Amino acid sequence: MQYNTHFSLKKYNTFGIDVTADRFISVHTLKDLKTVVQENKDLFLLGGGSNMLLTQNLKKTVVHLNLKGVIVNNETENTIEVTAYAGENWHEFVLWCIDQNYGGLENLSLIPGNVGTCPIQNIGAYGFEVKDTIISLEALNVDTLEIETFTNKQCEFGYRNSIFKTWAKGKYIIVNVTFKLTTQNHQTNTSYGAIQEELKGNTTPSLKEISNAVVAIRNSKLPNPKEIGNSGSFFKNPVIDITLFKKLQQQYPEIPFYPVSESTVKVPAGWIIEKAGFKGQRFGNAGVHNKQALVLVNYGNATGKEIHEIAKKIQKKIKNEFDISLEIEVNVF
Ligand code: EPU
Repeated sequence: MQYNTHFSLKKYNTFGIDVTADRFISVHTLKDLKTVVQENKDLFLLGGGSNMLLTQNLKKTVVHLNLKGVIVNNETENTIEVTAYAGENWHEFVLWCIDQNYGGLENLSLIPGNVGTCPIQNIGAYGFEVKDTIISLEALNVDTLEIETFTNKQCEFGYRNSIFKTWAKGKYIIVNVTFKLTTQNHQTNTSYGAIQEELKGNTTPSLKEISNAVVAIRNSKLPNPKEIGNSGSFFKNPVIDITLFKKLQQQYPEIPFYPVSESTVKVPAGWIIEKAGFKGQRFGNAGVHNKQALVLVNYGNATGKEIHEIAKKIQKKIKNEFDISLEIEVNVF
């Protein structure tokens, strides 16, 4: 196996940040992955590089997970189980499922990243989270080099969260994910306002039509990382106390919200950031996207530090003006 040294990661992170890895290797088989884990103490795992902000050169061995393959098993009358390997591109996998008429993932079309990273932050969009289709996943224990199975329940999925962001972080490498999808009587969810609008009165849309609607909405709001570097939603939508929410609602009656519990409410970070005046603002080489304030963008040559500074500026102003603490969703290294 060949390691590259002082390797530029610019093409391997969707923010397009030009930092280097001391050592870099792309692995295609489980056997090679085990060897790399055995040979290196300080590993940095890279999937699609779509949820990270790199603020410095990585003095580590970066492992690009390129395990490929999709296996179909356990078909029942209405459902099918599909196992996809970690290195499969997420959107291509979703499109493949739709082509087979396997329902369940259509609302998650065009989300950047790979199959292996979708469970880590339980990706979600348009009224749907990936946890609702995941049955189990297999992960390599980096200490024992054994493959362990985690059921959906064991993953402890939450809003943009799972055990792979908490105690299991750094201890396991997800190698494949098994989804339960429908082969007929698809339980589609088109309740999200923007999808309704896009479907223009089509009340019985096909999986492909729903996927196309999602792709159209995302393309209209979210910058294409191939053109402008970005990492999708940079912050999480904050969950705030109802007392604070009522206060804000008096000041801004139009504030969008989603009730979470009797005492808490989730409000869209993009809305707050826009109200704070940041939408479309540019600071040097980076800025806040002009169509969706939740997305920070790299206009070309920004460093990760510059983008991180913008994030801190936003957090500070929002804490001062709204008394809300915005939490960064992407992983900052
Ligand atoms: N809004 C504004 N200004 C903005 C952005 C949003 O006022 O600049 C308002 C919108 O008008 C809307 C509300 O905020 O009333 C929510 O906006 P939107 O529907 O665009 O969704 P979001 O809450 O900003 C979340 C996910 C996205 C996902 C969308 C669609 C998080 C952190 N983000 O965004 O996920 O695609 O819902 O379901 O939960 C991602 O993780 O990379 C991502 C794009």
